[in-house]
Amino acid sequence: MTPQTHKITVVVPKTSLDPNPIIHEATVSAPTNIACIKYWGKANSQYNTPINSSLSVSLDQTDLRAVTTASASSSFDRDRLWLNGIEVLDASTSKRFRACVDGVRALATDKVVVDPATGAKCVVVTKDEWSGMHVHIASYNTFPTAAGLASSAAGYAALVAALVRLFGAEESYPGEFTAIARQGSGSACRSLHGGFVAWRAGGKKSDWSDSIAEQVADELHWEEVRAVILVVSDAKKETSSTDGMSDSVATSELLAFRAREVVPKRMNIIEEAIKAKDFESFGKVTMMDSNQFHATCLDTYPPIFYMNDVSRSVVQMIHMYNAWAGEIRAAYTFDAGPNAVLYTLDKHVVELLALVLKYYPAQSEDLVGDYVSNLALAQKALEF
Ligand code: ADP
Ligand code: DP6
Ligand code: CO
Repeated sequence: MTPQTHKITVVVPKTSLDPNPIIHEATVSAPTNIACIKYWGKANSQYNTPINSSLSVSLDQTDLRAVTTASASSSFDRDRLWLNGIEVLDASTSKRFRACVDGVRALATDKVVVDPATGAKCVVVTKDEWSGMHVHIASYNTFPTAAGLASSAAGYAALVAALVRLFGAEESYPGEFTAIARQGSGSACRSLHGGFVAWRAGGKKSDWSDSIAEQVADELHWEEVRAVILVVSDAKKETSSTDGMSDSVATSELLAFRAREVVPKRMNIIEEAIKAKDFESFGKVTMMDSNQFHATCLDTYPPIFYMNDVSRSVVQMIHMYNAWAGEIRAAYTFDAGPNAVLYTLDKHVVELLALVLKYYPAQSEDLVGDYVSNLALAQKALEF
């Protein structure tokens, strides 16, 4: 009898150095957002939840955004992060980074491709296979990092959004992705939406799943609003937002009063102002909240100084301008850094730039050149 074989297969031994590993990849960019009603102080540092609600405007992504590529492969031996081209060596053990990666990966779905010829569906990566893969993340910011222009907001929002796309993640309740981004950086939860965004403090649910961001009005609702960004300094701040707010919670009585008595009222005022497109009210409450936030920094012991002399001169300039106009045409706000963000309306932009150029002629290129294209128009308007 002739011996038989069923089938002969020649197998190339698989090495750990697979020269052609499959790498799954997704790239997403997210905007920065600048708060009108500020988040400052944590209620729970494990979940990174705030002592008060806050509200911000997500800025157009033309100039200020974080761009993040997330990739996953069974050939990666650990999670890694590169920020602005430099590897962040302790990233894989950072609580914030872990919360985002593990949080989104837990919501992964099977990756399915459809054969265009037959229409047949084929699962190329199962949910379980995703959980066995490490990620490599590369992110860069198109604006100064850690200088008080909310790089952590754009950065962690882009990270979560890129992971969501990579893993095909699906929320198990509305707002869950914002709750994950919030664990990267609080302000990041607001950058997952465009337009005017509120972050509800939450706290009724024990897992803080009610501490989420929601859109108050989209970017088309009040299209006339503009943000003019004055980069006073692009240097890294001395006190990070995280450290600063922790010191404020520990030492400032004003901060506790603000969170309890002041912010809830201001959240109502600003939401009404946005709905009614009332710039007078929107501008006033924005300036008052920036001032109170920086007052709590001064009330922190030892005090924290985020604003500098140039920042303070911008405050004076805007009050002079509004007094001259007999109405609020521009409103300043400062995050945890010296850089000013001026909210105004489209019809007043040229006038406002003219004012900026008049008061800061030497630095005018730095102040407006990077971010605004109609410089020539503004200079013409100097004669007002
Ligand atoms: P900012 O005012 O710029 O938000 P923070 O002190 O709140 O300053 O946060 C700055 C930190 O946020 C950086 O040191 C870095 O750890 C993190 N970060 C900034 N941009 C990104 C990014 N694109 N991806 C991941 N993390 C980022
Ligand atoms: C002044 O969101 O940067 O910009 O949650 O610790 O990462 P962490 O802090 P972060 O704080 C932002 C503070 C702020 C005000 C705001 O954006 O609401
Ligand atoms: Co930040």
